[in-house]
Amino acid sequence: MENTKDTTMEKVVSLAKRRGFIFQGSEIYGGLAGAWDYGPLGVTLKNNIKRAWWRMFVEERDDMYGLDAAILMNEKVWEASGHTGAGFTDPLVECEKCHKRYREDHLESTEKCPECGGKLGEKKDFNLMFETKVGAQGNAKSYLRPETAQGIFVNFKNVVDTMRPKLPFGIAQIGKAFRNEIAPREFLFRTREFEQMEIEYFVYENDWEHFFEEWRIRIWNWIDVLGLSHERVREVDVVGNDLAHYSKKTIDFEYDFPGKGFDELSGLAYRTAHDLESHIKGSGQRLVYTDAEGKTTVPHVIEPSFGLDRAVMAVLTQSYTEDNLGKDTRVFLKLPKDLAPVKVAVFPLMKNKPELVAKAREVYEEVKKIIPNSMFDDNGNVGKRYRRQDEIGTPWCVTVDFDTLEDNTVTLRNRDTGEQERIALSALIAELH
Ligand code: GAP
Repeated sequence: MENTKDTTMEKVVSLAKRRGFIFQGSEIYGGLAGAWDYGPLGVTLKNNIKRAWWRMFVEERDDMYGLDAAILMNEKVWEASGHTGAGFTDPLVECEKCHKRYREDHLESTEKCPECGGKLGEKKDFNLMFETKVGAQGNAKSYLRPETAQGIFVNFKNVVDTMRPKLPFGIAQIGKAFRNEIAPREFLFRTREFEQMEIEYFVYENDWEHFFEEWRIRIWNWIDVLGLSHERVREVDVVGNDLAHYSKKTIDFEYDFPGKGFDELSGLAYRTAHDLESHIKGSGQRLVYTDAEGKTTVPHVIEPSFGLDRAVMAVLTQSYTEDNLGKDTRVFLKLPKDLAPVKVAVFPLMKNKPELVAKAREVYEEVKKIIPNSMFDDNGNVGKRYRRQDEIGTPWCVTVDFDTLEDNTVTLRNRDTGEQERIALSALIAELH
């Protein structure tokens, strides 16, 4: 069976835990709702996604500038941006009987508690920001940022003054964001601490539609980098109450998550000049762009925004595959090769033959020079090692056997087909290059 929509989320979550991708946060203390920890392979997968994103959207372009702003910001930032106000709230209802709290827009009935059947109280606006106190006196209020975007807006002038970019240009940032979600759920989908990869792309007001379209196409290119099939991704125009307080037009890119259905993976928003104008008012600073003729303008903004954890979840579910290679069902991750946490695994055919182990180590050292994300494995028999590597999505396995000692050839196995070919060591090194 290839990967289908019927692949259950339970299977993906179970593999993610079993193979060291993702663990429940604070697990030994019973966990903490909405917090997940990335294990050794998960962090590598996540870093590979970040690296691919940074390469594609920052390094390969001349009009993009990187940034890494602080998570803690002056509280005035959030007043100016509108996040302390009604714009950044979710509708909260509480059961009058069992006092359980729900996000009202996620309930089927807004009358009765789904747990105990008790009456639900009045709807309240619940602000999603985590508040914190700064300094030994604890008298300065701050927030854990709920989006990375504001770090970009408050540094707009710094980037313009130091880098002298020409409009249009963008500033990109990858980093943590925090939201006190009323109901964190569905694995990495809705968490209280997550990572965003965001771009604020500054344009002349008249050009916004043109650049909105350009970024729409680029998001599809990114979806290809993640290896997501186009049948499982759709665009949805966000309208009415769902439109964020800063946006005039937003398209959500939704992925068809197993057991959940289509839901937001990334968003593309036209934020107008809302944020820069608000920070001009709030800070009294001139956050403007000055052209070669000395004319000034407050740029408008196109914002492609990507949730990194949702990308990890989509990549894991898309690549989860079962087939009938061999006697039993084989589970493997058909990860895009660039994203796979381990690229090549090198084994000795038998671990109790010192000459094979020594030769395999030698091959491994050679391979590692070219592909650092390689692994040496001599646990269990070769069949079991293949299964283990399949489950973590390693594209290639190299086995060193007695023939290798004679003629310097190895067996190269392909993850997707299970096919093995005999290849000269020198050819292998050249191919990996
Ligand atoms: N700066 C725009 C912004 O923050 P958003 O739609 O609220 O827009 C952007 O968030 C992306 O962040 C979403 O598309 C989603 O992938 C991710 N995201 C938002 N809330 C999340 C949560 N609670 N858990 C995991 N990812 C989340």
